Amino acid sequence: MRYNLLNHQFSTEKLSKEQINVLNDFDKIVQGVKPLNSKQLMFLPDNIRELSHQLTDQRSSRRLGYMNENVQLSAYVRYYTWWNLVRLTRLFSNLSADSFPSEDGFCIDLGTGPLTVISALWIARPELRNLKLTWYCLDVSQGAMALGEDIFMSIAAKFPAQNEESHWKIIRVKGSFGTSIREKCSFVTCANMFNELDQSSQMPPEFQTKKYYEQLSNYGSKDAKFLLIEPGVPKAARTLSLLRDRFIKSGYSVNAPCPHCGDCPMNGFKSYTGSKNKWCNFAFSTEDAPQKLQKLSTQAKLPKERAVLSFISVSKAKIETPSIAVRITSDPFRLPKNRTGFYACSQLGLTLVATTKPEKLSSGDLLQVEIKQDISKLPEDFKSGAKILILD
Ligand SMILES: C[S@@+](CC[C@H](N)C(=O)[O-])C[C@H]1O[C@@H](n2cnc3c(N)ncnc32)[C@H](O)[C@@H]1O
Repeated sequence: MRYNLLNHQFSTEKLSKEQINVLNDFDKIVQGVKPLNSKQLMFLPDNIRELSHQLTDQRSSRRLGYMNENVQLSAYVRYYTWWNLVRLTRLFSNLSADSFPSEDGFCIDLGTGPLTVISALWIARPELRNLKLTWYCLDVSQGAMALGEDIFMSIAAKFPAQNEESHWKIIRVKGSFGTSIREKCSFVTCANMFNELDQSSQMPPEFQTKKYYEQLSNYGSKDAKFLLIEPGVPKAARTLSLLRDRFIKSGYSVNAPCPHCGDCPMNGFKSYTGSKNKWCNFAFSTEDAPQKLQKLSTQAKLPKERAVLSFISVSKAKIETPSIAVRITSDPFRLPKNRTGFYACSQLGLTLVATTKPEKLSSGDLLQVEIKQDISKLPEDFKSGAKILILD
């Protein structure tokens, strides 16, 4: 079967040399903002490995405010934030513009940590730099947000907005998911937070997502867009799939990754308990990830050959007027009410096109006709049984 490749979601093709350079030299940016001395740098790989245990097999002993502790925050930013920037910039640069804000407004990043999503958006989506966005950044860890803001400023200075006034405004909110903020936001983002919430709860995602959905939608304005990203692990992917269902039931449509709004065939049901159900996740090779990051990962004994993530981008469903292609297949003939008819072929079967301006049409013409009413209720020609399309 023939096919057209529409989108290569995780390629670096859309990233310029300047964007890639910033990703490659992220360690220098962090060192410029919060330098470590040579002894601290020597211990960095060990600290990264220790943090990785806390985020995985020792997560039950992890403190909620772990990101407030200097050593852990340094390890997080210099390893996890760097990898997250690599993953997110690839994702963001290849998503369609529908997934992002198109005008000035309020946005919120939940579980923002060191503002990773915001820095990744600034790097990956140049058109957003010229919007006046006010970002509420919410996290339980003030320390992570303070460092993240300095890192973001440093990144933003490397790609100045065309209009100085457009610079994004950052409002840090120390609080947990659900904490209310003053404005409703037209863009709601969240990366790698639901995974942590899931880890700290004994309840399965099926019990959690109703509350998650209500809290998420509380942050959004009437036509808000949501962009949620998680590590590609089964439980977090399951949470996203359940949130997807709730968004769709509430009149949203999924921009990506789903090519449809039907039931998710990779919904991850119980996949985190070892069932054979597939969970939706995407992996790409890290071959062209920053060399220094790969070296650091090897030193920390956490080498990465593939980066994995799950995500959903949703926005209010557009009510599109359906239209159909119609091919005129006859000469004109007279109809009552001063109209002229043509027989035609369309997905409706034999079709009768009726018009008061027959001079515009002739046999063989191909038309795209917008149908503003229920197709099943179109009138039928009593003689031929053809569906009748009355053109303006
Ligand atoms: C894995 S980090 C992700 C940080 C950032 N979004 C990123 O992708 O790099 C998870 C973040 O969620 C925050 N967090 C955990 N539980 C939270 C909660 N209940 N409310 C708000 N933030 C929370 C943590 O403090 C941490 O900064």
